[in-house]
Amino acid sequence: MPTAKSDAFVFFGATGDLAYKQIFPALQDLIVHEHFDLPIIGVARSDWDLERLRERARASLNEHGGINKRAFAKLCRLLKFVNGDYKSDETFARLRKVLGDAEHPLHYLAIPPSMFETVVKGLDASGCATGARVVVEKPFGRDLKSARELNRTLHWIFPEDAIFRIDHYLGKEAVQNLLYFRFANSFLEPVWNRTYVDSVQITMAEAFGVQGRGSFYEEVGALRDVVQNHMLQVLILLAMDAPTGRGDVEAMRSERLRLLRAIRPLDPKEVVRGQFVGYRSEHGVARNSRVETFAALRLHIDTARWAGVPFYIRAGKEMPLTCTEVFVTLKRPPIAVFDQVKPEDANHFRFRLSPDVVISTGARVKKAGEEMRGEDVELIARYQPKRGRPPYSRLLGDALRGDAELFGRDDALEAAWRVIDPALDDAEKVHSYKPRTWGPELADSLMKDDGGWHNPVMTKPKNASRKSRRK
Ligand code: BG6
Repeated sequence: MPTAKSDAFVFFGATGDLAYKQIFPALQDLIVHEHFDLPIIGVARSDWDLERLRERARASLNEHGGINKRAFAKLCRLLKFVNGDYKSDETFARLRKVLGDAEHPLHYLAIPPSMFETVVKGLDASGCATGARVVVEKPFGRDLKSARELNRTLHWIFPEDAIFRIDHYLGKEAVQNLLYFRFANSFLEPVWNRTYVDSVQITMAEAFGVQGRGSFYEEVGALRDVVQNHMLQVLILLAMDAPTGRGDVEAMRSERLRLLRAIRPLDPKEVVRGQFVGYRSEHGVARNSRVETFAALRLHIDTARWAGVPFYIRAGKEMPLTCTEVFVTLKRPPIAVFDQVKPEDANHFRFRLSPDVVISTGARVKKAGEEMRGEDVELIARYQPKRGRPPYSRLLGDALRGDAELFGRDDALEAAWRVIDPALDDAEKVHSYKPRTWGPELADSLMKDDGGWHNPVMTKPKNASRKSRRK
């Protein structure tokens, strides 16, 4: 078991999209905040040289968060490049040489899942896997069967505690705050159950399309791209029980798994798949593609806490705005003592996870005047207009230290696929929707008995600028 800190950072797919959008910014952030000082070795099959990779890093940082001159100079100093085919032994022999004295490298596989096996075997044959850790990107497989096979392949070479299956949602400040809010407050627990919660909905809306990633997206679709991982993770943190043992990494992971196993596998009839008009003209997309760019679904959790409470998830590209939000609707008071409260006036909790962070609760208060008439107010517990540190920076820092809490275990990955499997591919028809709308109309019918979807609205909370006073 590799308990030592990693002593080199290797990333496969160094010239690719993920490295550009996430890895270079995360590395700069680690240099600025955590005195990161390890060799960084990019591996890719291309005709690039080190200078070109440095230029790529510069462009990446310019576009994603900006350049910190000193940190960037250090990143350039630490950066090395191994150019070669992943299928060739020679590539891995050169990597072993460039690793020099490093005994515990961390290998990040920022490459298509179809290449995982080849690379992992190359690492093994060259000795680069000895004492090493490996970080594997999502989606982890294509379905339950392929996820099992992938786990088997990885386990030939790496012990489970050396495998870090990454889902950047778990590294988000807002997602961590959701977990904290749930378990650090006693007022929530008494109502956080089937007696008081009417329904839960999670919306992940993106006001853009596939952004040139057509061929990647054709392989995945919304269910594999974000529902099987990001959305299920958010649902788990909302619904799980408190883990036992403070700071016990495995207790936290086991509790997450327990909840996941209690989710009933999806009934395809409770899934609406959509595709935005224009998707089929994207580069890399089949003209008759049936891949979904939108999914809405209803899930059921068979636990004493949640039996009978519907959990809805909706995720889509080309929506009216970019925002991820959780909306928990509470049941209405048993009798209407004063004015008749409409379904949409029921109390609620709202957790906005991006682009800003909001934790709030909706309540009714009396309007000034003689009549006992009310109005809705929203009490804001937390508002953070800006993003914190990039989630990849936090997660890569954790993986380098060997801290696995925010990574997926083999059993959990398989349990997540078990939920999604019945709805994959052509299980249900794909309905088209106009860009910049909330998806196909059928998605509204799915929700109609539970008060309808709450479409996020990006308004700045009124008391946002006031700082909370310390005692
Ligand atoms: C990625 C998906 O995992 O998450 C993308 O592949 C999606 O399709 C992205 O756009 C959203 O992440 P974030 O952090 O921008 O909400």
